[in-house]
Amino acid sequence: MLTAEDKKLISQVWDKVQGCQEDVGAETLTRMFVTYPQAKTYFPHFDLSPGSDQIRGHGKKVVAALGTAVKSLDNLSQALSELSNLHAYNLRVDPVNFKLLAQCLQVVLATHLTKDYTPEVHAAFDKFLSAVAAVLAEKYR
Ligand code: HEM
Repeated sequence: MLTAEDKKLISQVWDKVQGCQEDVGAETLTRMFVTYPQAKTYFPHFDLSPGSDQIRGHGKKVVAALGTAVKSLDNLSQALSELSNLHAYNLRVDPVNFKLLAQCLQVVLATHLTKDYTPEVHAAFDKFLSAVAAVLAEKYR
């Protein structure tokens, strides 16, 4: 459950990454593919060299979707419903991968925000990304 304070911190942090969304997305995906190479199996059609145009383009889409989620913190299930269908029924992404992506995004946020990525922000973001992962995986049952 996200508290009112968590929601405030999440929105504030998200405002700070507005100017570098594509970088954040691309760095997150690059980090995921290098650190957890099994995630690459879902992207056989991509050029997965670090920072490739496809990684940048896709990173931007993922971060934009998270931006939608940040604006819909009280209604994540509905806001991400189509993406949930896509990942469960079409892409069949094993839900463990959502945790890997979340982990990589947190490292990237920490490197970009440095001291602004406080333990409290980290905790709030961890809850948020777990909630997003739960929604993206909820159609698997
Ligand atoms: C596509 C978001 C996690 C694999 C997408 C798209 C978005 C998105 C917005 C594009 C949908 C469209 O074009 O209509 C997210 C979010 C995630 C997440 C918000 C978690 C926070 C993952 C993970 C994997 C994955 C963990 C696999 C390791 C894919 C693949 C596509 C896709 C293979 C299709 C790419 C293409 O062919 O263009 N995702 N995603 N996603 N996602 Fe995810």
